[in-house]
Amino acid sequence: MERRLDTVAAVDAEALQREALAAVAAAATLPELDEARVRFLGRKSPLKLALREVRDRESGMTLNAAREAIEQAVEARQAELERAELDERLSTERLDVTLPAGLLGPLRSRRRGSLHPSTQVRRDVEDIFLGLGYEVVDDREVETTRYNFDALGFPSWHASRSPRASLYLDDERVLRTETSPAQIHKMEAQRPPIYMVSIGRVYRRDTIDATHFPIFHQFEGLAIDKGITMADLKGTLLYVMRHLYGPDREVRFRTHYFPFTEPSMEPDVSCFACGGAGCRICKHSGWIEMGGSGMVDPYLYEFVGWDPKEFTGFAFGMGIERTAQLRHAIDGIRPFWENDLRFLRQF
Ligand code: DAH
Repeated sequence: MERRLDTVAAVDAEALQREALAAVAAAATLPELDEARVRFLGRKSPLKLALREVRDRESGMTLNAAREAIEQAVEARQAELERAELDERLSTERLDVTLPAGLLGPLRSRRRGSLHPSTQVRRDVEDIFLGLGYEVVDDREVETTRYNFDALGFPSWHASRSPRASLYLDDERVLRTETSPAQIHKMEAQRPPIYMVSIGRVYRRDTIDATHFPIFHQFEGLAIDKGITMADLKGTLLYVMRHLYGPDREVRFRTHYFPFTEPSMEPDVSCFACGGAGCRICKHSGWIEMGGSGMVDPYLYEFVGWDPKEFTGFAFGMGIERTAQLRHAIDGIRPFWENDLRFLRQF
């Protein structure tokens, strides 16, 4: 009791107000201002304690006037400090949404990925044939010997039927050794006109070395219609090769044999490195072997139950990795399957 009376007596409202207003004005931050507010207006501040003990009207009015003045000063200072803080944040935390993402924060150090070189060729091949009006079809990788060999005219003694050459799951099922069975599936599904390209993995029981790998990719084309000739095959391959290897390329055919085409040809493309003069890439011949092709053997039409006199068509098959190797001068096939980022990042 005595202490409180002392306090009332000790409080000099004017001096307190002066002190408080000075402290409020000196507060440079919101926490500092809060400290001053507690010190001069808090429940245990001299002013509040004095107000509680007040007995006469006059000192009550004096103390209240001081309280009000301090409260207003705190409020005004608070508004000032809040505005300053907002200004500060607006100027330092400004986000320029037009900056490229790569220049901002966590994205800065992240390098951009790229498609695998095989995928790049695959997409180019798809684009080229879609542009020609072909349909791109997927097909199964597990085939029956009927579709992988019989339907395509492979004789019973053919070397690639051997389990030493091909990967069998059981007596009748084999991982497809080429994309050519897709021709038969398409012919069974649809009558001509057929214009399709099928791209995917093929499997052979090859020992891994610089140029061999038991998995690789091929693309297989098939066009069947009325009146298709070898000129259409050559024109199509010329168009595709020029898109893959440059506008000056030429295509030539060498006769060959495949069980499912008659006649069969191996297409060569003029060397893109030397233009045909002869160099290391074309083994000094001026020409590069591209795969296989030919006119669809009438046997295939008979196999799917069509009259072989009604339609003609052509087919071709080529390697995706080989295409990428030629385009990027990549030595060997192994880097395509090793997932070595030092290799992949170059494309
Ligand atoms: N399937 C053959 C191979 O893997 C390539 C081939 C040759 C495909 C002639 C064809 C073709 O469509 O007509 O060696």
